[in-house]
Amino acid sequence: MGTKYQEFHRRSIEDRDGFWREQAALVDWHKPFGQVLDYAKPPFAKWFVGGEINLCHNAVDRHLKDRAGQPALIYISTETGEEKTYTYTELHAEVQRMAAVLQSLGVGRGDRVLIYMPMIAEALFAMLATVRIGAIHSVVFGGFAASSLATRIDDAQPKVMVTADAGMRAGRAVPYKHLVDESLRLAATPPQKVLIVNRGLDKDMPRVAGRDVDYAELRAQHLDAQVPCTFVESSHPSYILYTSGTTGKPKGVQRDTGGYAVALAASMRHVYQANPGETYFATSDIGWVVGHSYIVYGPLINGMATVVYEGTPIRPDAGIWWKIVQDHKVSVVFSAPTAIRVLKKQDPAFLKKYDLSSLRHLFLAGEPLDEPTAKWIAEALGKPIYDHYWQTETGWALLTGLPGIEPHPTKFGSPSFPAYGYDVRLLHEGTGQEVGADEKGVVAVVPPLPPGCMTTVWGQDERFVQTYFTSFPGQQVYTTFDWGIRDQDGYYFILGRTDDVINVAGHRLGTREIEEAISAHAAIAEVAVVGVADQLKGQMPMAFAVVKDPAKIATPEQRAALEKEVMGTVDGLLGPIARPKNVHFINQLPKTRSGKVLRRSIQAIAEGRDPGDLTTLDDPVGIQMVKDAVSGK
Ligand code: PRX
Repeated sequence: MGTKYQEFHRRSIEDRDGFWREQAALVDWHKPFGQVLDYAKPPFAKWFVGGEINLCHNAVDRHLKDRAGQPALIYISTETGEEKTYTYTELHAEVQRMAAVLQSLGVGRGDRVLIYMPMIAEALFAMLATVRIGAIHSVVFGGFAASSLATRIDDAQPKVMVTADAGMRAGRAVPYKHLVDESLRLAATPPQKVLIVNRGLDKDMPRVAGRDVDYAELRAQHLDAQVPCTFVESSHPSYILYTSGTTGKPKGVQRDTGGYAVALAASMRHVYQANPGETYFATSDIGWVVGHSYIVYGPLINGMATVVYEGTPIRPDAGIWWKIVQDHKVSVVFSAPTAIRVLKKQDPAFLKKYDLSSLRHLFLAGEPLDEPTAKWIAEALGKPIYDHYWQTETGWALLTGLPGIEPHPTKFGSPSFPAYGYDVRLLHEGTGQEVGADEKGVVAVVPPLPPGCMTTVWGQDERFVQTYFTSFPGQQVYTTFDWGIRDQDGYYFILGRTDDVINVAGHRLGTREIEEAISAHAAIAEVAVVGVADQLKGQMPMAFAVVKDPAKIATPEQRAALEKEVMGTVDGLLGPIARPKNVHFINQLPKTRSGKVLRRSIQAIAEGRDPGDLTTLDDPVGIQMVKDAVSGK
C-alpha cells in the first residue's frame, strides 16, 4: 500500500466534502450543487444537494463538442454476425428517437420503464433515453423467467416495458417476447404498452393488439426527433436494479443521479485508469450492475467507446474477446473469474494469437478469484490483473487497487484495499468489535456510503435500514454480508457470504428464491437449497427436498423423473440460471429444536466438509439423510 494511495484514501474520509467536491468537477452540472452531502437523516445520504444534472447528457451530449465523430458504442454480435459502430453523433440521434418514442407512449419524469432485452444496441438506447427524460429504468436480466419478471413488474410498476422478439445464446434463439407475455399474465399491475424491437429472430412472436407496439415503426416517425435532456435534482432516482438477498423477495436497489455520475467518472480515472478516446470492454450483461456501471454509464461518461457484445467467450472460438481487443484497440477489459475459467479449458494458443498491445490491464470482479485462474490469465495475457470487490448495492468498487493513483503489487486472492470514500471495517460477528489482522470478520462500512451507492430500497425505506444497517446492535454500520480478513500488510481477502446468497457463474442468487420455486411443485413438502463449490461456476445450487408422498419416489426411475420435473419448475419460475445441480430427495431436513433448517451444516456436508456444531440439532436422522444422499447411498 503506497503513500499516494493512503493519502488519497485518508483525505476521502477526513476531508469528505472537499474530496468529493473535487471529484464532482469531472461531470457536467446544469445547475451547481450547494451542499456536498446532506446527512441529516442517517443512513440516508443525499449527495450534491440542489445540483441539477442528467446522466444521458453526461454520457452522450456532453461529448458532441469534442468527440462527435468518435466511436461511442461498438456493437458486436457473434450470434447474428452483426457488427455496428455508432459515433457519439449517431448515438445522440438514436437516443433521441428512442426518447421521443417513449414520450409518445406516455413516459415522463419519474415514470418507470422496465427493460427486458438481449445485448443489442437498442437496449442501451432505451436506458439512455429513459434517464434522458427523467424517467427511471429497471433492467431485468434476460436469463430470468416469467415469474421473476412478474415480481419485478409488480414492484416497479412500469408505465412501459421495452423488449425484443428474441435474444440468441450459443446459436439458439431465446424467445424474450413469449416470456414477457407470460410475465404480463402473471403480473397484478401490467404496463399499458410493450415496445418491441423486432430482430426477426422469432417468426412466431405473439402480438397483443393495442398493447404491443413496434419500435421500427415508431422510430420511423421520430427520425429527426430533438428531445432535450430533463435535468433532475441530484438525488432523483436514475434506476432500480433488483438483487437477491436473504428473503425470497428481491430488493429494488435504487440509485440516485448526481452521486452515481460522479462516482463512475471518478472510478474510470482512479480505479480503471481509462482515458477518454479509448475503448472499454466489459464482458457482463446490461441486466447486472457491472453492465449498468461499466458497459453503459462509466465508459460513456468518460468519453470512451464501449463494446456491447452479444455472444459467449468461446464462439466462434476462444480467441473472440482478444480479437475484439485487437480490432477495436481496447485499453481496459472488465470480466468475471467464471468466464476466465471457461477460457482456461480451451487451447491457450488463442490468447497469443492477437495483438494485445492496446490492453493496459484486466479487471475481474463478481466472485472470488482463485489462484490458479488468476495465475493462468496473468501468464497468458502478460498484463496486470486486478481483482476488485463490490456489490449491486455499491454500484462501484468497494475494495480495489488504484492504478490510476499509484500502482501497487497485487496479492493473489486479494481485491486489495478499501476504495476512497469507503470507511471499511471488519467487525466480529457477535460483538461488533473490530477484529485484528488475520482475523475473520464481517466486511462493514461506516456510513455515510459514498456517492454512487444505493440510496434506498425502492419504495421501502424501512427495509433499506433494517436490511443493511441493523446487523450490529448499538451501531449503525452498513453490512456487506461478506466475510473478510485483512493481512498484516493491509490487503483484504473475501471469504464468502454470511447470508443465504450464492454466486453461480458470477450471477447472484438467493437460495430462498430457489426454495420458493421448488416448493411450487405440487409434490414437494419442504426443501432446503444450499450453494456448493463448483470448479467452473464457482458455486451451484443443490436442493434437498422432502416429498409429500414418499410412495411416488419409491424407484430410482421415479426419483430421476421427479428431479427433472423439479428442475423444470425452477427453469420456468426463475430461469435456467437458478437450476439446481441436483435435487436430492430425503425424508426429513436437519433442523434445530426451534425448527430452523441447518443450512450451513447441509452445505458443509454437500461440500465434503465437517458439518460443525450440531448440538442444536433436533434429530440426527436428518443430517444422516443428507450425508447418505450426498454420498449416493
Ligand atoms: O459475495 C460478494 C461477491 O459478489 C457479491 C456481490 O454480487 P453482485 O451484487 O452481483 O455484484 C457484483 C459486482 C461486481 C459480493 O457480496 N463478490 C463480488 N466481487 C468479489 C466477490 N467475492 C470475492 N471477490 C470479489 N472480487
